[in-house]
Amino acid sequence: MSSFRDDLLAGQVALVTGGGSGICKGIARALMAHGADVIITSRSAERLADAAAELATETGRRCIPAAADVRDAAAIGAVAQRAVDELGRLDVLINGAAGNFLAPAATLSSNAFRTVLEIDTVGTFNASRAAFDAWMKRNGGTIINVSATLHYTGVPLQAHAGAAKAAIDALTRHLAFEWGPSGIRVNAIAPGPIGDTEGMKRLLPPAMSEKLRKRIPLQRFGTVDEIGEATLFLASEAARYVTGAVLVVDGGAWMIGSPMDMLG
Ligand code: COA
Ligand code: NAP
Repeated sequence: MSSFRDDLLAGQVALVTGGGSGICKGIARALMAHGADVIITSRSAERLADAAAELATETGRRCIPAAADVRDAAAIGAVAQRAVDELGRLDVLINGAAGNFLAPAATLSSNAFRTVLEIDTVGTFNASRAAFDAWMKRNGGTIINVSATLHYTGVPLQAHAGAAKAAIDALTRHLAFEWGPSGIRVNAIAPGPIGDTEGMKRLLPPAMSEKLRKRIPLQRFGTVDEIGEATLFLASEAARYVTGAVLVVDGGAWMIGSPMDMLG
């Protein structure tokens, strides 16, 4: 049950990177359930096709699956152009594509570090430029980057992802400044631990899960739908004077420090 009106985003079009799975599939669902048509992109054409069919059936809106690697600027540029050509406009960009794993900096290869920065940070820049060029520089729009809270406390085994997300937070503010005069708002959402996602499976060893949950101020993990609702707020007219902001949606989890401290 949504907190927002069904027609909140009626007539709008969104591009969601990473939209075939997890949190960003949930964001695509929330946007569509509130009136938007959506194009979802990631590397796996098969997963995107299944997700697009499911979301379209569920919401009655259009959802185009378009495979691309966000590290490939030309490929993501073509996806943004498809949104404009086939759905008529491009009002909202969600930068959610990311890669992560637990690894100590002491053994992390240079290529591993670079790979995560290229997917998360360069990918966010590429998709933002693609949306800007294809539509937003002439018509305005809103960009919402999916960040994290790892870099607030320097969580161990996450130097690559924390550096990538810190750069995304910086990019959020730089682009908000540069593109504000074009009527483009740029914000970020920093989710905490969100239940039943690939990120949680990869990053939170099961033995730590219950210990962490009990220490979170709101006493539970978040849900994909809760990230969807935060996204709806930032995408909507209610946030028309909000730009350059990072909205933390984590039940207060980042304030307790690193979950790795609980290992001992
Ligand atoms: N620990 C340490 N290094 C790792 C690793 C791990 N668990 N997994 C991959 N790497 C390293 C590889 O060894 C390689 O480095 P090398 O050339 O020095 O050996 C480098 O990372 C690139 O790996 P590759 O598999 O070629 O990258 P890719 O582009 O195919 O895949 C990943 C990207 C590694 C991020 C992959 O996990 C992925 O596709 N993730 C998407 C889903 C995801 O992470 N979801 C959670 C989001 S929070
Ligand atoms: P997920 O389902 O694995 O989502 C990541 C998505 O990115 C996948 O759909 C993946 O699809 C896509 N992707 C990866 N590399 C790509 C590339 N090179 N080009 C295009 N797409 C690519 O994981 P999730 O847990 O839902 O995470 C979603 C977002 O939330 C990420 O930005 C993550 O950092 C952030 N986040 C998650 C949590 C959490 O608790 N889960 C917490 C904080 C932040 P393909 O494999 O098909 O390419």
